[in-house]
Amino acid sequence: MEPVEPPQLPHPGPIYYGSMRLPSRYLISPLAGYTNLSFRRVCRELGGVGLGTTDLVSARALMQRSWKSLQLIETCPEDRPFAVQIFGGDPAIMKDAAQYLEEYGVDSIDINMGCPVARITASGGGSAMMCKANETMHLVQSVVDAVRVPVTVKMRLGWDDTQITAPQFAREFEQIGVAAVAIHGRTRAQGFTGVVNLDGIRQVVEAVERIPVVGNGDVRTIADAERMFQVTGCHAISIGRGALANPWIFRQLVEWETTGQCGPPGSFDDRMQLFRRQFGYFEDQQGPDRGIRLFRKMAHWYLKAMRVSAELRNEYQDACTPDEVEAVLAKISAAGPKGMNRDGRLPDLHVPVPNGPVERW
Ligand SMILES: Cc1cc2nc3c(=O)[nH]c(=O)nc-3n(C[C@H](O)[C@H](O)[C@H](O)COP(=O)(O)O)c2cc1C
Repeated sequence: MEPVEPPQLPHPGPIYYGSMRLPSRYLISPLAGYTNLSFRRVCRELGGVGLGTTDLVSARALMQRSWKSLQLIETCPEDRPFAVQIFGGDPAIMKDAAQYLEEYGVDSIDINMGCPVARITASGGGSAMMCKANETMHLVQSVVDAVRVPVTVKMRLGWDDTQITAPQFAREFEQIGVAAVAIHGRTRAQGFTGVVNLDGIRQVVEAVERIPVVGNGDVRTIADAERMFQVTGCHAISIGRGALANPWIFRQLVEWETTGQCGPPGSFDDRMQLFRRQFGYFEDQQGPDRGIRLFRKMAHWYLKAMRVSAELRNEYQDACTPDEVEAVLAKISAAGPKGMNRDGRLPDLHVPVPNGPVERW
């Protein structure tokens, strides 16, 4: 076999958020409804994860100790390093939430400036922050000044094509002490349509002097990651939908970075084992009844990625008791992937996103 060279990365050294050194440059991008503790744990066990971040958490709801927010920030010793992503438009509440999280023990706090969903932008948070430079700088400064842990910001390129504000924000964030910025290379108006704009991410990389820039969007394979590094010059990459389709991707990227090649993602049986493990963690956290009900959304992606027949997938969704779940998992396991060898490589899975105008998400 031909010897393979490791890739040349634009910034090969370790990635630091402030003084915190990340174990790798491949991060889990927050996906509301999916990147919960059970999912972060299984990705970490497979290896290669540099940082796990929660789904977005409302700063206001957190300060009211809402049950949902407290569930979202739940963590465990294996879930490190770990960031909580907060959103909101009120600087005083964002500051209080950040201080609460620091005391709670998070390693880093991420501010959501990218979410295009109307419910979030209506509160002045998410991508609405990209339209109000002064208020946004004040809000981010209040959070940075309130805590010792590194504060990062995740944003889109801008509100729309006529307002590409991410490079300017990134430069100013660096000056007020933000430890890193993550850029999803689309505008808010784009939603999830079209392809990610790598030149736009590059402009953000060029706008800052020393903080790491995390490139994000559409990375599903090693080739996508290589393109992201080469075209944008970014320091690190965060992966959302690609991790849902293939939780092995972080480990594969680290292998590729160090040796130039990587092992395959898990087989059908590996994924079955992972399913059971994640479901177990989820059930421990939620209890059996809620666990079964709330895991259905995640199970849908597992079973699709495993090429389980529609019939068995539907049967899984109808299972209500631990015995029923066990019975259908046994059937799924025995049936194997539809039309394929159970040891073979499963085809790549495309995870769709909400469609239609972003105003109506
Ligand atoms: C279902 C779903 C939920 C998401 N939730 C969040 C979120 O809570 N916070 C956030 O910053 N981004 C969120 N995003 C955006 C992703 O983190 C990421 O920026 C985007 O999906 C592009 O990266 P990807 O192609 O690797 O998925 C979400 C995306 C999807 C599809």
